[in-house]
Amino acid sequence: MVLVSGSGTNLQALIDACEDPAYGARIVAVGADRDGIEGLHRAERHGIPTFVERVADHPDRAAWDVALAEDVAAHDPDLVVLAGFMKLTGPAFLARFGGRTVNTHPALSPAFPGMHGPRDALAYGVKITGATLFVVDEGVDTGPIVAQVAVPVEDDDDVETLHERIKTRERAMLVEWVGRMAREPFEIDGRRIRFHPKDPR
Ligand code: GRF
Repeated sequence: MVLVSGSGTNLQALIDACEDPAYGARIVAVGADRDGIEGLHRAERHGIPTFVERVADHPDRAAWDVALAEDVAAHDPDLVVLAGFMKLTGPAFLARFGGRTVNTHPALSPAFPGMHGPRDALAYGVKITGATLFVVDEGVDTGPIVAQVAVPVEDDDDVETLHERIKTRERAMLVEWVGRMAREPFEIDGRRIRFHPKDPR
């Protein structure tokens, strides 16, 4: 299950990866918090079921969160991937899918959390930034880290060129580690993800 809010290039990378049976995962559905986005069109073009759950259709965020959790549960996913999903999931969602929901953030956590990772990295003047795949918790980009990739900041970068460079690496990271999480048992031990918990040697 993948949730998106925008162009869906991360989703597309996962769709492409899933075409190889050896990848070991299948996208059961794609959900969004808004209509008319390319992310949903990508899913539709590949025959993947979609749904939209808009905050504006609910009295408050808590009610939206319950509805989103219901939508996701209807597809019975093993793993939920937030791929450019620009909303925070809430307590009702995490009660059902905590520990098996991952998000990707275009910065090297714990630096530059929030909606503007590339902009904030550029403004700070860092020379290396990157992307972080993490298990979603109740904070903003704070959960246990699954993987990170480093990306150089070039002198002539603007937010767009930097974000595009990050996204190229981010997509590869997402494909590699989501595949691993789909194929191999894992457990969350404090802030660490441990794979193969049943296979010590
Ligand atoms: C990604 O960089 C993601 O980390 C950020 O927004 C971007 C989404 O891109 N939150 P896309 O919709 O997958 O193309």
